[in-house]
Amino acid sequence: QQPVRIAPSILSADFAELGAEVRRIDAAGADYIHVDVMDGHFVPNITIGPAVVKALRPHTAKPFDVHLMIAPVDPYLEAFAAAGADILSVHPESGPHLHRTVQTIRALGKKAGVVLNPATPLSVLDYVIEDLDLVLVMSVNPGFGGQSFIDSQLRKIEAIRKLIDATGKTIDLEVDGGIDTATAPRAIAAGADVLVAGTATFRGGPDAYGANIARLRGGG
Ligand code: DX5
Ligand code: ZN
Repeated sequence: QQPVRIAPSILSADFAELGAEVRRIDAAGADYIHVDVMDGHFVPNITIGPAVVKALRPHTAKPFDVHLMIAPVDPYLEAFAAAGADILSVHPESGPHLHRTVQTIRALGKKAGVVLNPATPLSVLDYVIEDLDLVLVMSVNPGFGGQSFIDSQLRKIEAIRKLIDATGKTIDLEVDGGIDTATAPRAIAAGADVLVAGTATFRGGPDAYGANIARLRGGG
């Protein structure tokens, strides 16, 4: 388990001034910038495309952690890579050939992540985990910010922590959904080392971002 890193989800930012919001969370101590890409088909919401990722790229040097909730996902990997994504994470349900999708991301020179929905079993990782840089556990059903953390996912985080440790490789274990000051310590105790936080980062407005991020990290 690596040191805890915080990945604010810009889904909860002010979309009318997204560049400024990215600069603010960078200055406030964000480790990754989590970008939620939704297509209104794989999940019931529509958000951000490659053009927005590209427009945001000059506003920070922090890694763009791009969470793709789109199906089919394969036709868009290259566009997100070209736009400046650093990590591309995909759901196994978003295409017929997860192994191929992971290899495509690696061939584009980007870090590869696989995302497990709350009902998705961890066995989908069995034959791809060695090729991953990140595993993302959804602790809500994807589509919207502001939902409640699903406790059953703590068991899944614990099990994936063991799988990752058994590989001997450096693979991030990220948790996404309903992370706040109450659930963050529980996710970390279960083995998570990257926490996505939308609502809990942006609540209270720009002056609060720094303290919000520090509290989630466990820094008081
Ligand atoms: C949900 C997204 C999350 C979401 C998290 O589909 O993947 O990243 O923005 O929002 P909070 O932290 O508010 O639960
Ligand atoms: Zn996300």
